[in-house]
Amino acid sequence: MSHCHIRSIFPLLALLLCCIAQPALARDNAPAKEGILLVAFGTSVPEARAAFDAIDAAYKKAFPGLPVVWAYTSQIIRKKLADQGHPVGSIGDGLAALARDGVKIARVQSLHMMAGEEFAALARSLLVNIQRHPGRFDAVYLGRPLLESRRDGEEAAQCVIASLQKLRKPDEAIALMGHGHEHGRADLVFDGARAAFRRADPHAYMATVEGSGGFDELAAELKQNGVKKALLAPLMIVAGDHARNDLAGAEDDSWASQLKKEGIAARACLRGLGEMPCIAEIFVRHTRESTDNLCREPVKP
Ligand code: CO
Repeated sequence: MSHCHIRSIFPLLALLLCCIAQPALARDNAPAKEGILLVAFGTSVPEARAAFDAIDAAYKKAFPGLPVVWAYTSQIIRKKLADQGHPVGSIGDGLAALARDGVKIARVQSLHMMAGEEFAALARSLLVNIQRHPGRFDAVYLGRPLLESRRDGEEAAQCVIASLQKLRKPDEAIALMGHGHEHGRADLVFDGARAAFRRADPHAYMATVEGSGGFDELAAELKQNGVKKALLAPLMIVAGDHARNDLAGAEDDSWASQLKKEGIAARACLRGLGEMPCIAEIFVRHTRESTDNLCREPVKP
């Protein structure tokens, strides 16, 4: 009987020891702290910040308890905001803030539309920063921009069309203003995006404000297709300066004014894509999907 008793006490003892040892073990093997850095060009238009606020809220919900820090890449906008008493840091500032917070795994998310000029600059800034501060992070992951895969295009098109649908009149075409780049960087991504939007809605049009496929082509296409009414909207994360002035502005050279001159009733929706929850979801997915640690050299099998 007593023999039996001793035997039954052993697992109990082992369990007890385990429980005592557990906290110490957990301290040593505690998972490295993660943090998020969201990077955008930035905006100094107060009304446009709604888009960034919505993305910030989406990240805090998707990654509960993790620090979420912002960086704007535009020096002009950072200076403007600092002068107004609402400073937002650079990429370097953002990484430093995460490091100060004890973060060892930095998840950086590009809030760019596509992997154009701005995204390339972000990747380079991260690499230079990692070189300057060796060992500061165990890992730095960079989440890809909004539009890259076919899935991204389909999801973004469905999201934007559905979001605009609520405001749209039955006979209105949708004309989206993308940013674009003077050297044509990411032009082909625009072509893919244009095709995805057209699949989602046969009356969706897209042009850029600074790249190829600009306003003249848009106007010609609208006229050719007999469009009489158009709902204009930015294909940009925030409805900032381009949306408020180049797209919807009262000046003669805005898209809205020019279309009106062409006999097309144009009105604008000043809603950045970041304000649409389904767009924030795509960014969150990209953050989760990113597994390429920029602190290490790529290893090819
Ligand atoms: Co611009």
